[in-house]
Amino acid sequence: MAGHVLVTGGAGYIGSHTCLALLEAGYRVTVVDNLSNSSAEAVERVAGLAPPGAAIELVVADLLDEEALARVLAGAPVEAVIHFAGLKAVGESVTEPLLYWHNNVGGSLALFRAMAGAGVHRLVFSSSATVYGSPEAVPVPETAPLGPTNPYGRTKLAVEEILRDLSASDPGLGVALLRYFNPAGAHPSGRIGEDPQGTPNNLTPFVMQVAVGRRPEISVYGDDYPTPDGTGVRDYVHVMDLAEGHVAALRRLEAGPGCLTLNLGTGRGYSVLEVIASASRACGRPLPYSVVGRRPGDVAEVVADPGLAAEVLGWRARRSLDEMCADHWRWQEANPEGYRG
Ligand code: UD1
Repeated sequence: MAGHVLVTGGAGYIGSHTCLALLEAGYRVTVVDNLSNSSAEAVERVAGLAPPGAAIELVVADLLDEEALARVLAGAPVEAVIHFAGLKAVGESVTEPLLYWHNNVGGSLALFRAMAGAGVHRLVFSSSATVYGSPEAVPVPETAPLGPTNPYGRTKLAVEEILRDLSASDPGLGVALLRYFNPAGAHPSGRIGEDPQGTPNNLTPFVMQVAVGRRPEISVYGDDYPTPDGTGVRDYVHVMDLAEGHVAALRRLEAGPGCLTLNLGTGRGYSVLEVIASASRACGRPLPYSVVGRRPGDVAEVVADPGLAAEVLGWRARRSLDEMCADHWRWQEANPEGYRG
């Protein structure tokens, strides 16, 4: 056994795929999740995909319940935490900033206090390329200026800052801050995947809901950006590549303490129209779209410089956009209503 990992938000999209990668790497996993935007079924399915004898359990609890966290940590010999749990809808964060600061920062503080109380010294935090705001230049290295443009992004940056302070105060701590670019795709089995509640805000889940007939057409937010086809360019990264990036970060922390800040992306950008074309190939029919106005707050191009993660972790995203769309479509076609279907 490689060790015991507590995964907050492990029933969610990136969390569930990471749990599977951890189990495949020989770790035992305890998931803590309040199921506010996720499903116990995801954890059941991860258990079903995992190698025989793999150990995963779900504790339904909220991170703001510090006593519940302390009980979980007292009851299991946890060596590391991977912290995904949090609210993540940009628009909602603008209308409900207190909710976001309370949950994302308050929940993280409760977790870090419980970890300190239990003597857990390793943490991987789910951060986001959103901390860069509108990048001055692409590809974006980790040293680029930080300036998130909405409350959600500011809560991600605040938790990063808390962890940098904690790391500076305790040389025994091992912290990895992983800044994801645009997660997409699903496990190739089609058993687990992204299951957004309500109307998806992000491009790939929206495109897949059009593909499966839940929505009539895609709205393309602007075709007058200074990009090759005029639509926004992003660095889409397969969720299984991201999951493997977490395992690599954990292994790196096992080798020694310190604070790592790393981009997880591919270094290759694709436009909205290229994503629609790839998704159309995946589902076997041209997906309808129309161009509408720009979405406020959007930028032309965000692409990672993934060089540091390759150097420090030996990790590189391996899967293509076509694989992301094929795998996402397999999940969507088999589960048109997500886990509730
Ligand atoms: C968004 C968030 C970011 C968050 C990330 C999580 C904003 C401003 N940013 O990033 O904080 O970390 O999601 O994955 O919300 N698009 C369409 N039609 C759609 C949806 C999107 O054309 O229905 C376009 C967008 O204009 C953009 C691209 O598709 O060019 C990707 O959009 P999206 O998936 O929302 O991701 P980001 O905007 O990169």
